[in-house]
Order: sequence, then structure tokens, then C-alpha cells
Amino acid sequence: MERRSVLAMGAAGAVAVVAGGLGAAAPAFAQTGGRGAKPVSGDPQSLRALGAQINLPIGSALTPQDITQWPQISGGQFSVVTGANAMKWETVEPARGQYNWTDADQLMAFAHANHQLVRGHTLLWHNQIPAWLTSGVADGSITTNQLWGLLEQHIFTEVGRYRGRIWQWDVANEFFTDGNPSSLNPDDWWIKALGPTVVPKAFQWAHQADPGALLFYNDYNITGEDGTNAKHNAVYDWVRQLQDSGVPIHGVGTQAHLDTQYGFDPQRFQQDLEHFGSLGLKVAVTEADVRTFVDSPQTQVPTDSLAQFAQPFEYAAMLEAAISVPAVISFTVWGFTDADSWVPGVFTGEGAACIYDVNQQPKQAYYSMQKALELAHGAPRRAAPPRA
Ligand code: G3I
Repeated sequence: MERRSVLAMGAAGAVAVVAGGLGAAAPAFAQTGGRGAKPVSGDPQSLRALGAQINLPIGSALTPQDITQWPQISGGQFSVVTGANAMKWETVEPARGQYNWTDADQLMAFAHANHQLVRGHTLLWHNQIPAWLTSGVADGSITTNQLWGLLEQHIFTEVGRYRGRIWQWDVANEFFTDGNPSSLNPDDWWIKALGPTVVPKAFQWAHQADPGALLFYNDYNITGEDGTNAKHNAVYDWVRQLQDSGVPIHGVGTQAHLDTQYGFDPQRFQQDLEHFGSLGLKVAVTEADVRTFVDSPQTQVPTDSLAQFAQPFEYAAMLEAAISVPAVISFTVWGFTDADSWVPGVFTGEGAACIYDVNQQPKQAYYSMQKALELAHGAPRRAAPPRA
């Protein structure tokens, strides 16, 4: 395992209307922008309102708990939302042929009610695929041909269900190895099962299912987070090949999971965003957070006193880099509250990665993002995002 590898290990609730009233019919998204951001009624100092001034949607991953328990933050602070787990295959088809759209529909309804754009996440990933699928492939009861058919059906069913209502889809997620050099991972579950053509095929099917959605490749450590550009370079070359062979890929999402123990190079981060943008692609920061060592998973008080400086600095530096690169079309944090962050469950001893604490109080990291947006008047002009 790489020392600096960031991720080495790898219902319908009440729909609250927070930022505006129930709006017009769901939009269809053109790939080149939209009709202009709808003015947000609500706190002019919210992240979403400040982001709207520079046409940069600010987002969060949301869990069902975020939607039902903290709708004021979920709806009031963000103008683009991602289901933390709601749209993953194991969630939407827990038993073969039996769909459960509860969480995904809840997210879509909440987004619609609050004039939020949606990032769909994710169609093709080695993780959180249903047990019936993995066990069927393992025991041979699902053949290779059947697996191709099941994947095609999954993509057409899910993308088709929300056609015209998803702004960006993370079509494929985390297909590259950590380490230097990096490459398409030959041990990835999908690559082993179907070979490397599975990725372009997924993009083609997603495009057919919703020609208006922006289709993204999403990964971590691809903007220098591990201290190198190995994975960035590998993904850059591969994406360029996909483009050259006519695959409908429109963007690259950098997850941007940081950890204070490894430091952070904002210049490299910005250069890498620009480099992806130089391919003519959209770029999105899709899962930003900054974890650190904490006292306990419950209270998540940082144990290193320097974390109180590092975390706000790194959040602001990521956002400032995104602001200054016109190809970046959205900036999303991976959950806003430490109360339901993924970090303590995966990185033992770490946490406090979000911009609100375990009691949903904004932290310095929140204020640093707010300040970065307030000071962004000289930001390059970007096209208005679609109207939600
Ligand atoms: O749904 C079950 C529940 O029935 C059970 O009681 C509970 C007990 O642990 O587990 C629940 O499933 C959990 C699931 O989240 C839903 O809460 C899984 O254990 C847990 O592993 C899973 O974690 C998710 C993780 O992806 C899985 O890799 C996180 O919530 C989610 O935030 C995280 O998101 C990923 C992105 O999709 C891709 N990039 C990395 C990012 C962080 O890992």
C-alpha cells in the first residue's frame, strides 16, 4: 500500500423546500451550458449564493439523513447535490430484477424542490455492486455474456429513469492503480470480468440513455494528492485516447480527498485541473474533504493543533484553484457534516474531515470557503450553469 495513498482500501423522507419555491418542470441539460443560474432566495452569504455570483455551483454529497434531518443546510448551502450512496447499483437493485429507487427518488425530489443540480454517482465501480451480481459471476451462474447484458440494462434503466434531470454522471469510478507508474487496474473487478472495453462501452450506453447529460470519469489522487502526478498522467493519457476514439466523455472528476498528514500542493492541484481542461473537457471537484487525526469517532476533535490551520487552508486552496480554472464547472464536498462522514469508518483514528462539525456547526473550513468565494470577484468568466 502506498504510504500516501488516499483511499487505499480501498424511505422517502419529507422533502423540504429551503432555498426557493417549487419550481418549473425538470430541466433538460445542454452540454454547453444553460439558461443561466436562477437567483437564489435565501442567505446571500450561503455557499450556493456566493458560488452563483461566479457561476460555480457548490455542492455536497447527501445521505438520506442529511435530507431529512438537516434540510436547511442540505438545501440552503448547496446548488448541486450527489447521492452519497443513493444511486449505486447495490442500492438501486438489491435483489436481481427488484429495484429500490427510494433513496434516489428522494434525492431527486429534494434537489428539484430546492433548485439544485444533480451529479449522478456512479454507474461503473468495483465497489457497492450487488452481492447477487458478484456471487453470480464468482460461481459461474452469471456468464460473461449475461454480465454484459446486465450492465447494459443497469445503465439504461438508471440513466433512463432520470433522463434530462442529471447534470453530470460519474459513469466510471476509480479504475486506475495507485503507485508510480499508474495504469488501468488489471485487477479491477470489471476489468477482470469484461476487459478494458467495459469502460468505453459504459460511456456509450450512458450517452444513448441520456444524450444531454455530461459524462465524467471520476477518480482520487489524480490532482497530485499523493505528492506525484503519476495517476494524473496515466488518467490524462487514457482519457485522451478515449476522446480520440470517439467515446462520449465530457469531463473528469477529481475526488480530492485530502489528509493533513500528507500536506498539499495547491499549485500542482491547479495545474492538474488546467491540464485536464486543456483536453477540452469539463472538470469537477467531486468529493472534497480534508481528514485529520481525532480524539474519537464520536466527537472528532483534531488531536494535532495544526489541523485547525491546515484544514481551512486546504479547503480554501482547493476552492481557489477551482475558481481560477474556467474548465471547472462545480465544486462538491463529500458530505458536509462530520456526523455522517465516511472517514471514521474507513480511516481508523481519523475524522473531522467536513466543513460542519458533528453538531452541524460550521467550522473554520466552512468560513474559509465562504471567504474564498467572497473574494472571487476577479475570477475568470465561466458559462452559466444550467438552471435547476
Ligand atoms: O446500508 C448498510 C446498512 O444496512 C448496514 O447496517 C450498515 C452497517 O455498516 O452498512 C450500510 O452500508 C454502508 C453504506 O456506506 C451505506 O451507509 C457501508 O457499510 C459503507 O461501507 C458504505 O460506505 C460508503 C463508501 O462509499 C463505500 O465505499 C460511504 O457511505 C460513501 O460515502 C463512500 O463514497 C465513496 C464514493 O462513492 C467514491 N469515492 C470514495 C468515497 C468514499 O469512500
